[in-house]
Amino acid sequence: MKKRIVLLPGDGIGKEVINSAKDVLNAIAEEYNHTFSFESHEIGGAAIDLYGTPLPETTVDACKQADAVLLGAVGGPKWDSNPSHLRPERGLLGIRKALDLYANLRPIKGFKNLLHASPLKEEVVSGSDLLIVRELTGGLYFGTPSERRDNGNSVVDTLVYSRQEIERIVDKGFQAAQQRRGHLTSVDKANVLESSKLWREIVEEKKAQYPDVAVEHVLVDAAAMKLITNPTQFDVIVTENLFGDILSDEASVITGSLGMLPSASLNENGVGLYEPVHGSAPDIAGKGVANPVAMILSAALMLRYSFQLNDEAKVIEDAVQAVLDAGFHTGDIQVPEGRLVGTAEMTKLIADYIKSQN
Ligand code: NAI
Ligand code: MG
Repeated sequence: MKKRIVLLPGDGIGKEVINSAKDVLNAIAEEYNHTFSFESHEIGGAAIDLYGTPLPETTVDACKQADAVLLGAVGGPKWDSNPSHLRPERGLLGIRKALDLYANLRPIKGFKNLLHASPLKEEVVSGSDLLIVRELTGGLYFGTPSERRDNGNSVVDTLVYSRQEIERIVDKGFQAAQQRRGHLTSVDKANVLESSKLWREIVEEKKAQYPDVAVEHVLVDAAAMKLITNPTQFDVIVTENLFGDILSDEASVITGSLGMLPSASLNENGVGLYEPVHGSAPDIAGKGVANPVAMILSAALMLRYSFQLNDEAKVIEDAVQAVLDAGFHTGDIQVPEGRLVGTAEMTKLIADYIKSQN
């Protein structure tokens, strides 16, 4: 398979971990006879410094023409006092919008060996392996009007969803469940919200199209409780923008470190964007100590969702697990009697494991 991948390193540790993803993808290409070509472009602070804008047209055009996009992270203290149109985060929101990335997928897995790094009890998080599918471009965050009235004494935010917007994200949820363990939890607030009632109706309508998926509806407040009391009961969770934002941050405590969490942002047919959940980590940038796993697992998601290379994606995920099982870890994870390594060594261990398996 021949694919063109655009790399957007961004700022801080984004520049470091993006190389880790590239090295691991090169190992996959070599072992499984694929050709991945890489083209690097600026976004965020790096783009502000070079071009005076967080999202140059050349970057947007390159992404639109690519087969997939890998993004590191943006931001840092250097740009914190910039006016809002010159903030690095504008680049990130801008590229998601330009590519119409309405589906945000966040897999959360409690890796063996790291479970004690979670604030939750080990026996609770052990065996957790879930995927949150969050609607990313609609709902309360984008509805108008959103404003203050009566001299600021009352406020309005608007929650709007169209049938088409709900159908496409619900389809993504069902499809993800088909590729996993066949269980879909649809999270809503259908006892109160009109938008949630339509959401639930659409999930019910779609069930017939996916007979191999078992569906349950859970109200968002109950889902928030179940996520941390019994996370292993979940396979795929599909939900709207605001609920997904809150639940995905809540679920991230299962893994214990931000440095482990990948994400994918997708749309129907176009290019997908893959990035770690963490930011540019200015406190450790340039030191070669960043955990590259979130970025590497994001590359695995790219293989799975953009290129349908499920086996190769699994090879990367298994390699990460094997290296962690062997006791290797970066500084963000405290492992008793583990072996502390830096970004480059962690990356090499994972790439070497991939090469040793084929
Ligand atoms: P952050 O995620 O960059 O860092 C939070 C803490 O986690 C820091 O102590 C950091 O050292 C640690 N950490 C994060 N990723 C790590 C990794 N891979 N390995 C080891 N340790 C890791 O969030 P923070 O500090 O709130 O924000 C820093 C900058 O990043 C800000 O400018 C913020 O706006 C930006 N940011 C960008 C995001 C993105 O590009 N998607 C997301 C979140 C924040
Ligand atoms: Mg959030």
